[in-house]
Amino acid sequence: MKAIQLIAPAGLDNLKLVDLAPPGEPQAGEIRVRLHASSLNYHDLGVVLGKMGAADGRIPMSDGAGVVEAVGPGVNEFAVGDHVVSTFFPSWLDGEPTLDNFATTPGDGVDGYAREAVVAPATAFTHSPRGYSHAEAATLTTAGLTAWRALVVNGVLKAGETVLVLGTGGVSIFALQIAKAMGATVIATSSSDEKLERARRLGADHTINYRSEPQWACKVLEFTNGRGVDHVVEVGGPGTLEQSILATRVGGHIALIGVLTGIAGPVPTGTMMRRQQRLVGLIVGNRQHQIDLVRAIDATGIKPVIDRSFPLEAIADAFRLQQEGGHFGKIALEY
Ligand SMILES: NC(=O)c1ccc[n+]([C@@H]2O[C@H](COP(=O)([O-])OP(=O)(O)OC[C@H]3O[C@@H](n4cnc5c(N)ncnc54)[C@H](OP(=O)(O)O)[C@@H]3O)[C@@H](O)[C@H]2O)c1
Repeated sequence: MKAIQLIAPAGLDNLKLVDLAPPGEPQAGEIRVRLHASSLNYHDLGVVLGKMGAADGRIPMSDGAGVVEAVGPGVNEFAVGDHVVSTFFPSWLDGEPTLDNFATTPGDGVDGYAREAVVAPATAFTHSPRGYSHAEAATLTTAGLTAWRALVVNGVLKAGETVLVLGTGGVSIFALQIAKAMGATVIATSSSDEKLERARRLGADHTINYRSEPQWACKVLEFTNGRGVDHVVEVGGPGTLEQSILATRVGGHIALIGVLTGIAGPVPTGTMMRRQQRLVGLIVGNRQHQIDLVRAIDATGIKPVIDRSFPLEAIADAFRLQQEGGHFGKIALEY
């Protein structure tokens, strides 16, 4: 089977197309999946650039979607021919989080899904939404589930609330779509007016160019009559957090998700305390969250935005597009 391996020293030029022995028959509790798609996340970019310390020869990509080819003894949840999508934390099935690292995450601590087939525990996959292509399904594992957990699981989003999404990458565009499907008002930021126009076409009610408006919290307050938003999907980190705090209402919720501007920095703790805000860190979500997300997609008909799709062998070009910030929503790999 075709696969991609990251050969040391890590880097986009060391993503090698290889021919590996296909996996054998699934054992008890396992399924064999013919993988057809993956999607790129900022985390995957960190892995292939060597920032996460992945092992020599690692098969990258945390997201994987495809068709069940064989089912081992004792597996009742899936049948041959089912369309499935992988989970980010194969061992975190339900309940409170217990993990704070990527040691068990496919494409980082263990081999991922840049390959044509895998045998894995059935619990490492869920069903895909009805009518989704494999590429669309593959966007759920990381970006879709992170947006869902931020807004619905942790944020308990209600119709009529206002959500602020930062930039137009995979997580933020999913958050925009989920928020609109649930009856929220959405404010979106981007460095690009053209991308803001696309965000408006997807339903964003207000948009702000964060390059031309570096103090964008003021614009958010204008749009919310001085109140501030109920939820922020905070993908920026230290470089955006202060503006996010200023843009959030008293008692509001900030989902601390991203590291686009770095991993540490000053936080105006006094402002947060006075404004009685909830700052909640999260990493993706558990399998039950993904099952709930798939059910919500079946009910609402949300379709992920895939900007471009590449064949497996062009994986380095796909990451170059992501590195340049040339995308809106998701970039997919199909094979
Ligand atoms: N905690 C978690 O579970 C989790 C899960 C997924 C992702 N993440 C994190 O969330 C972040 C986004 O991930 P992703 O996969 O969605 O990335 P992505 O698809 O590569 O999106 C990157 C986009 O972020 C925007 N951006 C960059 N700098 C920005 C800034 N200073 N302010 C506002 N927007 C900015 C840009 O949008 P414009 O081009 O429109 O300006 C850029 O296109 C990353 O830090 C990633 O590590 C965390």
